[in-house]
Amino acid sequence: MYPLIRPRRLRASESVRKLVRETIVTPDDFLVPLFVTEGKGVKKEIPSMPNYFNLSLDLLEKEVKELWKMGLSSVLLFAKVEDNLKDNKGTEALNPDGLMQRAIKTVKNACPQMLVMTDVAMDPFSSYGHDGIVADGQILNDESAEVLAEMSVSHAKAGADFVAPSDMMDGRILTIREALEDEGFTNTGIMAYSAKYASAFYGPFRDALDSAPVDIANVPKDKKTYQMDYANRYEAIKETQMDIDEGADIVMVKPGLCYLDIVREIRNEVDIPVAVYQVSGEYAMVKAAAEKGWLDHDAVMLEQLTAIKRAGANIIASYFAKDFIRTLG
Ligand code: PBG
Repeated sequence: MYPLIRPRRLRASESVRKLVRETIVTPDDFLVPLFVTEGKGVKKEIPSMPNYFNLSLDLLEKEVKELWKMGLSSVLLFAKVEDNLKDNKGTEALNPDGLMQRAIKTVKNACPQMLVMTDVAMDPFSSYGHDGIVADGQILNDESAEVLAEMSVSHAKAGADFVAPSDMMDGRILTIREALEDEGFTNTGIMAYSAKYASAFYGPFRDALDSAPVDIANVPKDKKTYQMDYANRYEAIKETQMDIDEGADIVMVKPGLCYLDIVREIRNEVDIPVAVYQVSGEYAMVKAAAEKGWLDHDAVMLEQLTAIKRAGANIIASYFAKDFIRTLG
């Protein structure tokens, strides 16, 4: 008699669906990106990222305590640097009293067990908005990797648990790992943005940090000479494998939703944790559509987060972390 096998038996009620569900997103999966800025009492909403803010350090302290209470225990820090502190070499990034270094200490003082990861890249510190030093129409590779290594050591000194290089310079993981070892930071981890694509989905983030590449003669106003071509797939595996060989503890794919094929491929290929960054533009799209009443915010958010995890993400960096916790009731 047909059919003996009826998959719908396992969908008949929420109870059975819960019992057989393969993927469950939990608060432990999240890495919460936080934007910090100078000043006191500053909580400035990022126009293209509704309900997401640039925070001064006093309010950062409040925020991390709140995150901890909600069950969120890892943060990823980004600094919005004052324009007058930017230069071509990202000098301010190495200032031991710089905004990022103070932010790390603020989080660790407020909440010692909060895992602190820091963005290691030159663009927020660069007068040109690039992730490397600009010279003769080029983004220099090895010289930039040296700056990133010094930046990483500086973050480790301030108390960062992990550094997260997001620049896509060649060989930077090895340069950073060696610099950390030389300075005795053998326990500081590296989460490498290994397969980071040149994506239009970073727009709102660049608004938040005022870090978009600027017009300079003979220099491309985009990041396509270092971030990956979104048409490529095998290259993502190669980049990831290289970062692992150079000493990465965690590898990352970025952005999220458009790149879940890459996430799955990398998850199948490597034996270390894989992070996915659901980026600013992905957040902005859901917020905008929900504001118009065109999509159900929470339902779409949960579907997307679950899809990211189902694709193989062990860690999800997402601006939706607090929204997600709210849905748990
Ligand atoms: C900096 C950096 C970027 C993002 C994270 N780190 C922007 C860029 O590469 O231009 C994007 C994050 C987001 O869009 O949410 N190198």
